[in-house]
Amino acid sequence: MKFLVLNGPNLNMLGIREPEIYGAMTYSKLEEYIRGVARQEEIQVEILQSNHEGVLVDAIQGAYQQVDGIIMNPAAYTHTSVALLDALKAVQIPCVEVHLSNIYEREEFRHISYPGMACIATVYGMGHEGYAKAMRILKEYLLGEGK
Ligand code: DQA
Repeated sequence: MKFLVLNGPNLNMLGIREPEIYGAMTYSKLEEYIRGVARQEEIQVEILQSNHEGVLVDAIQGAYQQVDGIIMNPAAYTHTSVALLDALKAVQIPCVEVHLSNIYEREEFRHISYPGMACIATVYGMGHEGYAKAMRILKEYLLGEGK
């Protein structure tokens, strides 16, 4: 089973960026954590972080027929990007959305997720552990689909 993990803008600043909201873990430690969980779950992972919407759209398109599932934290693009929503709809790859923080307890503009409209589940408010939960949800879903 192969997953693509996509992380959106400013997540490369984890550890520095608003630690009271996003925690103290740096982005490179987060990647290490994701790789460790993937190893345990026997999932192959490719991880990409970008501050550019088009790069994320290209990565979703490039995943067509290449991966079984996508885990995505679209970061600020969550609340603005119809392009990411359309890319997920185009490739029809099951996706689980992740947010470190509880977006529903924050500003109202964070309550809407466009890419989330094409996701099978959303995990939020669990910090970095949300990525492990998302991987397990996606794996279970795909096993149920006979993958
Ligand atoms: C985030 C929540 C978004 O609202 C925010 O713009 C981010 C990170 C999270 O992981 O909690 O950059 O996706």
